[in-house]
Amino acid sequence: MSLHSKKIILAISGSIAAYKAAFLCRLLIKQGAEVKVVMTKAATQFISALTLSTLSKSKVHIDIMDDDSWNNHVELGLWADLIIIAPATANTLSKMVSGQADNMLLAVYLSAKCPVMFAPAMDLDMWKHPSTKNNLQALKEYGNILIDVESGELASGLVGDGRMAEPINIVRYIKEHFNKSQRLKSKVALVTAGPTHEALDPVRFLGNKSSGKMGIALAEALYEEGAEVHLILGPSNHRPQHEGIILKPVKSAQEMFDACHEIFEKCDIAIMAAAVADYRPTSISDQKIKKKEGDLNIELERTPDIAASLGKIKNKQVLVGFALETNNEEANAKRKLEKKNFDFIVLNSMQDKNATFGHDTNKVTIYTDRGEILPYELKSKKEVAFDIIDQTLKYLA
Ligand code: C5P
Repeated sequence: MSLHSKKIILAISGSIAAYKAAFLCRLLIKQGAEVKVVMTKAATQFISALTLSTLSKSKVHIDIMDDDSWNNHVELGLWADLIIIAPATANTLSKMVSGQADNMLLAVYLSAKCPVMFAPAMDLDMWKHPSTKNNLQALKEYGNILIDVESGELASGLVGDGRMAEPINIVRYIKEHFNKSQRLKSKVALVTAGPTHEALDPVRFLGNKSSGKMGIALAEALYEEGAEVHLILGPSNHRPQHEGIILKPVKSAQEMFDACHEIFEKCDIAIMAAAVADYRPTSISDQKIKKKEGDLNIELERTPDIAASLGKIKNKQVLVGFALETNNEEANAKRKLEKKNFDFIVLNSMQDKNATFGHDTNKVTIYTDRGEILPYELKSKKEVAFDIIDQTLKYLA
């Protein structure tokens, strides 16, 4: 696969490895990519902008302001299919984590909607430092893709980890990335996410603590793999980062049920990541319920089980469920797998303090209808999403 017509921003920060960015630029162009270069001021001390503008046949962006004009970082960020930050210095990594935007490279990074890869380069001890490790972890959790350093002789004369990956290896990663994103081309996916709110009166509801982050990460990952994605999202403060995801905000379980049934037939994949309320008030008061002496009893009825209803009518669709259990985890997950006719179910562990509600990480075990039990490490929700997609692909016709 070539990189024909792929729009790539090559972002260069100030490390001795910046000279390799010229080779990287040349390789990307040779593969058919359209390349625009963004550099920090420090990078221009290692390699000239003229070299990069000649290789990329395009103006190199260094300052947010040029004499009397303003460089549009938002436009650049939106133009790209991919940003590769190579070399990424310890300083740039740290600023990316904290969201600083004091140069063009960082402003483009913050404005970008496309996947971001970064290839760090730094000295051995800087690489080993706990703050660098924390920054790498945070960047991965934001969904950025790390191209790991290589080992060898460093500019300091020391030998060890910290060398920027060789340009040829970076190109290999980039090609793999674009290859991967074709895996769900022409597939249609439905994802439910977030909590539901079941109204009691005009101002009150029954709800739960779901943030919607896992389902949103799934929608983003499915979209990045090329699928048409319909995200049916309950009340959540979060939104997916890709504008191409078809978002349907809903409030109640009934609204979520209706939205799912409207599109299920044309779907190839349906992933039920929402924490749907199991009960709702039997009646919704037209007016705010007033305080009175004594207790108040609320009568509840069952909400429709969306997943089970789709499980009954599914034909070609791969149907994936989630289970959040506090006890008898395995038995409960397996029971739901069968009862709701899922192809596989993703069990969230409540045992790990960094997993489940509100966190950016999750630890899951997948139980399949083929009898497999697949435990995974604690990972970012985006990485978990890709594990779920890998599993889904095994079921797609
Ligand atoms: O039965 P339980 O709520 O634990 O099942 C969890 C799975 O079923 C999740 O995939 C959830 O999204 C789905 N579900 C649903 N509609 C409901 C309840 C759960 O789709 N009313």
